[in-house]
Amino acid sequence: MDPRARAQELRKLIEHHNYLYYVNDQPVISDAEYDRLFRELSEIERAFPEFKSADSPTQRVGAAPLDAFDAVRHELPMLSLNNAFDEVDVEGFDRRVREGLGIEEVEYAVEPKFDGLAVSLRYEGGLFVQGATRGDGSQGENVTANLRTVRSIPLRLSAHHAPAVLEVRGEVLMFKEDFAALNRQQQAIGEKVFVNPRNAAAGALRQLDPKITATRPLRFFAYAVGAADAPDLPLETHSAQMDYLAQFTVPVAPGRAVVRAVRGLMEYYRQIGSKRAALPYDIDGVVYKVNDLAHQKRLGFVSRAPRFAVAHKYPAEEATTRVLDITVQVGRTGALTPVARLDPVFVGGVTVTNATLHNEDEVRRKDVRIGDRVIVRRAGDVIPEVARVLLEHRPPDAREFVMPTRCPVCDSPVERAEQEAVSRCTAGLTCPAQRKQAILHFASRRAMDIEGLGEKLVEQLVDKGWVQTPADLYQLGAEQLTALDRMGEKSAANLAEALAKSKRTNLARFVHGLGIRNVGESTAHDLAVHFVTLESLVGASEDELLRVPDVGPVVARSIAEFFSAASNRAVVDALACHLSFEAMAPRMQSGALEGKSFVLTGTLAGLSREEASMRIQALGGKVVSSVSKKTHYVVVGADPGSKYTKAQALGVPILNEEQLLQLLQKNQTG
Ligand code: IVH
Repeated sequence: MDPRARAQELRKLIEHHNYLYYVNDQPVISDAEYDRLFRELSEIERAFPEFKSADSPTQRVGAAPLDAFDAVRHELPMLSLNNAFDEVDVEGFDRRVREGLGIEEVEYAVEPKFDGLAVSLRYEGGLFVQGATRGDGSQGENVTANLRTVRSIPLRLSAHHAPAVLEVRGEVLMFKEDFAALNRQQQAIGEKVFVNPRNAAAGALRQLDPKITATRPLRFFAYAVGAADAPDLPLETHSAQMDYLAQFTVPVAPGRAVVRAVRGLMEYYRQIGSKRAALPYDIDGVVYKVNDLAHQKRLGFVSRAPRFAVAHKYPAEEATTRVLDITVQVGRTGALTPVARLDPVFVGGVTVTNATLHNEDEVRRKDVRIGDRVIVRRAGDVIPEVARVLLEHRPPDAREFVMPTRCPVCDSPVERAEQEAVSRCTAGLTCPAQRKQAILHFASRRAMDIEGLGEKLVEQLVDKGWVQTPADLYQLGAEQLTALDRMGEKSAANLAEALAKSKRTNLARFVHGLGIRNVGESTAHDLAVHFVTLESLVGASEDELLRVPDVGPVVARSIAEFFSAASNRAVVDALACHLSFEAMAPRMQSGALEGKSFVLTGTLAGLSREEASMRIQALGGKVVSSVSKKTHYVVVGADPGSKYTKAQALGVPILNEEQLLQLLQKNQTG
């Protein structure tokens, strides 16, 4: 293909995949495949610089560092919002709107209030030409080079009739997951960690070197149109304007809706509130906007905030309190976790009395001492955390935490392996704390799924000495169970039935339930699929274990060690007498090619490489770039490269194009 046309095609393809990944959250190709497209484009552009273009995805990074940001004057000021904190405030807002307009009932466009930074993106002739921070509202900073690195921001508005001028306003933010990964990385390289996603996003946006910004995963959501010279821009409602932006692949506020009256507003507030913790990004409220743009204009502004919109805030997810004590909890693997016992404090809708401090190093890093005033944060995953210490309030008698040298539960010695952050009780399953956790894990929903067997019950069963290992659970009778605290006949019968029901299980759940170090749900599944029976898994050598996809030496060693311990074998054997394993159904929500890796080489006649990759991935398969013993199939087209010879040498199954299509078809219908 002519390189200019190919470059154009690649640009479209890469931006399309950016959109699927960053906006739709549904990538259809692997990172490796994406990188390959990217490399191919870079190579064409290097060989033919005349085919470069400003809207090329290769031009997202690469601008030279700045000495300072230029100022940008906003054509229309960027406003702030008034806040509402409760229903009374919302009623007041709605009343003022109704009175201002002289109407009975108002239609509102409603959106989440993203906890990031406001920016404005200016498109001229469809091309992204300037990005600016809000600054003081009338003048911000020119952060164009940094915003170009944000992959969900289109560099070109994808439509035939691009408007002459269109200013898109919205919020730049960092997803919680990306924030956590960034902090892990910062910690690993000994750099400072960020307090929250918003700070991390702010830091990234204000980097003078866009190459640094490019390494910080930022996102963007649009929530308004600024200046515009766009004949087809809808002028009736805010919601229509958002739809207009969306058709250009601009990522528009997810979860937006149109509602009526205070009732609709409050319903939306509660609905988003219940999803808040599970959202991939932080929000600090919802925003209500009069939907009719003519009405917005009539209502106008008071000082710097519009009368037609309001931010209804959720309770803060951060609060300050005092550390009363730091105690240690013993987990399933014997890990000793320091926990801050807090003066009870209301954060993000619940009262928090404990916050995990993760491990000894974390206590040192955050420098948390008993008696300190601290900021507690409830992160998205609901586990409360100590965000930081207010050093200026440290009392003179604040005490440092010391990791105990003996287990607080069973008094066995504690060990901290070199290069590990975690201290562990060395007693194994003879430690009652580990025993309880092991049994709870065994019974948990994603393992043996014994309904009703919760913490309080396990505590009693272990403390009474009735249950020492999971196998003992199956010796319990309904009658015996009624002797437990708060256990009526009905609940005892239910529990006995849940136990009986759990006996029919599958190998994956069982292996997961055993709680072998380094073996999570997914590895347990892979082991079950590979070994099929418990006997062959139990008897597998490390070498045999290494043949399982994704099992490396550390995991293989853990598994082999687990099954070679006589005490574990005794428990497994005792359990095996009670249980029956059903044949494994294919993994849920996955394609028929799940776990299968493919290498493509040579030119295929009927379908492009991209198409082949996408179809393989659509069925759960992976497309990788190099052949190894673990590769499942090598697909060979015309003029194959060295991958073909390598596949032959390693004895990897080889498919021609027709066989690939057959495989795809068979699995699509089947
Ligand atoms: S509308 C005329 N919508 O909140 C109103 N703002 O306090 C202009 N924000 O600076 C803002 N999510 O950074 C609007 N869905 C949303 C928002 C939102 C977050 C931020 C924005 C603004 C601040 C106002």
